Amino acid sequence: MPKIFELSNLQFLIDLDQKFFADKLQSWDGNFWKKIARDDQFLIYYIRDSIEFISFAIVQKTEQWHLLKMVTDEKWQKKGFALQLLETIITDAKLQKMSIFLEVEDKNFAAIQLYSKLNFKTLTKVVKYYSNGSDCLKMLRS
Ligand SMILES: CC(C)(COP(=O)(O)OP(=O)(O)OC[C@H]1O[C@@H](n2cnc3c(N)ncnc32)[C@H](O)[C@@H]1OP(=O)(O)O)[C@@H](O)C(=O)NCCC(=O)NCCS
Repeated sequence: MPKIFELSNLQFLIDLDQKFFADKLQSWDGNFWKKIARDDQFLIYYIRDSIEFISFAIVQKTEQWHLLKMVTDEKWQKKGFALQLLETIITDAKLQKMSIFLEVEDKNFAAIQLYSKLNFKTLTKVVKYYSNGSDCLKMLRS
């Protein structure tokens, strides 16, 4: 599973991001994506076939690892790709002796199921965390 990211592929991720998050105001603009692609504190994990991106996850290396975002393209969902990506991230984080934390919208049942399956535990709920007024769960896998 490749982790080294080519800038020429960035538009695929921007498109995938906007497809899922544009209506929820959680998509990132092009400049932030460029920062992520160039800056060593961010890791881009992805699965793709010869034509398109299937799934991606973005990690920020802070004092712990912060899973910023994870998306599987709709037509590839429920086939185990996000699980596969996240297992790779967990393995890498363990090697670095890092725990992983994340925020997830409290109504995002699919994502919460995924994270719970991989032993992420809910730390707290933050009311109106997102700009659309939704609440989030903060989760940690130590
Ligand atoms: C959440 C998301 C990344 C899961 O991707 P995926 O590749 O379909 O997930 P997987 O096939 O690896 O599923 C792994 C586990 O997650 C859970 N899960 C995934 N999709 C689910 C759904 N629609 N409903 C309930 N549980 C679900 C299940 O526990 C599943 O295991 P199972 O198949 O044995 O039941 C995907 O639904 C997605 O891209 N959603 C939109 C973006 C998003 O909300 N991202 C997370 C917040 S940043």
